[in-house]
Amino acid sequence: MIRLSRVAFNKIMKEKLNKLVADALKNLKEIKTIEEFREIEIKFLGRKGELAELFKMMGQITPEERKEMGQLLNEAKNKLETEFKQMFEKFEKEELEKSLSKEFFDITYPAIKPEKGSIHILMQLQKEVEDIFSEMGFAIMDGPEIESEYYNFEGLNIPKDHPARDMQDTFFIKDKNDEKHSRLVLRTHTSPVQVRTMEKYGAPLKVIMPGRVFRNESTDASHEHTFNQVEGLLIDKDISIAHLKGVMTEFLSRLFKKEVIVRFRPGYFPFVEPGLELDFSCLLCEGKGCRVCKNSGWIEFMGAGMVHENVLKAGGIDQAEYQGWAFGFGMERLAMMRYGITDIRLFTSGDLRFIKQF
Ligand code: FA5
Repeated sequence: MIRLSRVAFNKIMKEKLNKLVADALKNLKEIKTIEEFREIEIKFLGRKGELAELFKMMGQITPEERKEMGQLLNEAKNKLETEFKQMFEKFEKEELEKSLSKEFFDITYPAIKPEKGSIHILMQLQKEVEDIFSEMGFAIMDGPEIESEYYNFEGLNIPKDHPARDMQDTFFIKDKNDEKHSRLVLRTHTSPVQVRTMEKYGAPLKVIMPGRVFRNESTDASHEHTFNQVEGLLIDKDISIAHLKGVMTEFLSRLFKKEVIVRFRPGYFPFVEPGLELDFSCLLCEGKGCRVCKNSGWIEFMGAGMVHENVLKAGGIDQAEYQGWAFGFGMERLAMMRYGITDIRLFTSGDLRFIKQF
């Protein structure tokens, strides 16, 4: 094998580079089609092309020579890339002009209007509810939909094996939680956020907690397995049911934009004592009795009551100093009443004829 001297090797590299640039530019001038362009692009500038081969030879020269040679190679590379890019743009322009001259393109033709989505009626209503409570000084809280059995039940004074558990059948999640919080469930109501909020912020509190809840129930026109609730909680000094009556009368009157009357009936929920059901005067017949209120003049609206001492204890609130009330209502039932919707299943049916009305 003939060993080349360093000087000769360097000279050969430079000659090769000059020839490569000259050949590439000559070829570029002669080609007629984009296919030919692609071919010479790969031949000269491709990953395994002629220029790449020269870059590989850099490993065989000294660091001083490499500096000079590297500069020459990079200059050649930039020059060729610019020339090739210009040629490619020329081909592209020609292609476009050709296709435009073949097809008739009417630029005055009206465009197809893209379909616009809208916020779901339940979320619109939730926003309205949040705005009214915010104006009244309530903060808005969130809680997890996958909840521990502890927060969903025990923390709310519903012990294991207590008959009150039958009121809300649950979906259990296979994964286990830690010892104190036991199994995981899909929350059956928004009430678990009460204890979470008390633990986190202490007293006083003035919050609403909207969110999605789940129950293992057969569906019918007024029952869903997945629905939305709004929980309310007010804890402070010297709080009574009178404050709840005032807040709910104000809230419903603002929501329906007319004066609404509320009334209480006794009700049972393990996490409140005393427990109440709140009804409001039927807005359709103004209390005279109609189909919507089943001739009673009243609409059953929500559960409520004074927060049970065991729940305050679970939340770490000093009962000697603070007390408060809580409530929970269903968003779907409220929307149904407001818009005269007769089947709760329509909300999640995906039927656009229903959704587009709002
Ligand atoms: C509760 O869930 C209590 N956590 C409410 C509460 C909170 C009481 C704080 C006291 C203090 P209840 O199971 O009644 O209660 O549900 C509350 C509301 O959710 C009902 O009034 C109703 O509007 C709605 N709701 C209940 N079950 C369903 C269902 N299957 N489908 C649609 N809405 C429902």
